[in-house]
Amino acid sequence: MKPYIIGNWKMNPESARKARTLFDSVRRASRRGRAHIIVCPPLSFLPLLSESATKGGVSLGAQNLSQETGGAHTGEISAEMLTSIGARYVIVGHSERRAKGETDSDVAQKASLAIENKISPIICVGENERDEQATYFDTLARQVRASLARVTRSNAGKIIVAYEPVWAVGGNAISADTPEGTETMALFIRKILTEMYGEKIARSIPILYGGSVDKDNAYGFLFNGGVQGLLVGRASLNPKEFSEIIASTKS
Ligand code: PGA
Repeated sequence: MKPYIIGNWKMNPESARKARTLFDSVRRASRRGRAHIIVCPPLSFLPLLSESATKGGVSLGAQNLSQETGGAHTGEISAEMLTSIGARYVIVGHSERRAKGETDSDVAQKASLAIENKISPIICVGENERDEQATYFDTLARQVRASLARVTRSNAGKIIVAYEPVWAVGGNAISADTPEGTETMALFIRKILTEMYGEKIARSIPILYGGSVDKDNAYGFLFNGGVQGLLVGRASLNPKEFSEIIASTKS
């Protein structure tokens, strides 16, 4: 499977001008690798970038969507609205949103609305810690089942699962996972997907790793981590670093 390299810009950069410059650098770098490249900018920048995205190389995703379809929900953006501004993907259930109260059932609802509107949800899952009793396997299994509860067999081919152990994500991360650790967890997630959807469908669902990915560890995850791509936060804001990550799909 052609790997996915996804940049999650979070609440960056500060201005539309900087967003355009950063996006142009991703477009140039996209030629260095053999991957599906997706950028998830803040929503306000998405329409500005959608024209250059259609010129090739890079697809656009949003970082969140509403679990409502329209009406009196101040500040919310529906899946249909995302489609209309050129989003083809949307991140759901990111740990930074789960920390603000997003539940598995919210995630399930959002994923299903995205699919109905022809947007592929990138569904994030991951344990808070790896405890010595290994209860994190059960936690993860429950989270995967509940977050994908509304993804039917016929829609399962439209989703991406991002395994992001919370302890490895963001500026306060302990460290990145190791490729060996990720391989075990990706295998475990694949087993749950097989129980849910059968072997053939489960094998077609990309499982990505995310959490402190950088230019030095990207290759290891891609080639020894048992995953089909990477979800990159901080390093996606550094054009040189992200370009190296993209290039590592070709090595
Ligand atoms: P990070 O973020 O690469 O900065 O750890 C990853 C993510 O939040 O998706």
